[in-house]
Amino acid sequence: MPQSLQTENIFYPTPKSPLKLAALISGTGRTLRNVLALIDEGKLDAEVVTVLSSTPKARGLQYAEMASIPIHVVNRRDCATDEGFSEAIFRPCRDAGADLVMMAGFVKHVLIPPDFENRVMNIHPGLVPAFCGKGYFGHHVHEAAIKFGVKVSGCTVHFVDNEYDHGPIIIQKTVPVLEDDTPDILAARVFAAECESYPEAIRLYGAGKMRVQGRRVILR
Ligand code: GRF
Repeated sequence: MPQSLQTENIFYPTPKSPLKLAALISGTGRTLRNVLALIDEGKLDAEVVTVLSSTPKARGLQYAEMASIPIHVVNRRDCATDEGFSEAIFRPCRDAGADLVMMAGFVKHVLIPPDFENRVMNIHPGLVPAFCGKGYFGHHVHEAAIKFGVKVSGCTVHFVDNEYDHGPIIIQKTVPVLEDDTPDILAARVFAAECESYPEAIRLYGAGKMRVQGRRVILR
C-alpha cells in the first residue's frame, strides 16, 4: 500500500435518522427552501434544527419562520475576531444537536472548529477548482464562466475547510454552457442541478454511505 494511504486520516459519517441539520444562510434561501420541501415530502430523512443568518435582512429567514425553526442572526461585525465569529456560529449548532451544518448561500468566511471537521458542507455554483475562491459567488461565477468561454459548468458540493471552496469534493454535476447563455440563464440551469446534488450529498452523509480519505470522498 502506498505510504500516503497508510497515513491518511479516514473519516466515516455515522448514519443518523433523521439527520439533524443546521443551515447557514445570507440571502434568498432557495437552497434551504428546497431542502425543507424535500423533507416535508418524505424524500430526505433529515430535520432542520436551527437556521443561522449572517444578516437580519436575509429573505431566506422567512422559510425558517414558516417552519417554526429557531433562528439566530450572527453579524460578523459584532464579533471582534475570526475565532469569535466561528464560536458565535457553531455554538448554536452544537446546542441544537446538529449532525451536519449545511451552508446554503452563506457568504461569510468562517473558521471550522475541530469538532465540526467533515461536518460542514457547502454548494458552489461552479465546477471547483475553476471560478471559485474569494469573490466568486452568485453571478460572479456565471459571468466568469461565460466570459472565459467554457462549454460546461455545473455545481460542486464539498466539505468546508478553512479556505474558500477548497475542502474535499463530494458531488459535482455538470450542465452545458450554451452560446446564447446570459449569466441569469446559466445560473438557473446550474441551480436546477444544485437542487438534486445537495440533497443527494446530504442523503449519502446521513446514510453513512461515504468516507473521506484525505482529499477524496468515496461514495457507496
Ligand atoms: C447558489 O448559487 C449556491 O450555489 C450558493 O448560494 C446560492 C443559493 O443561495 N452557495 P440561496 O439559497 O438562494 O440563498
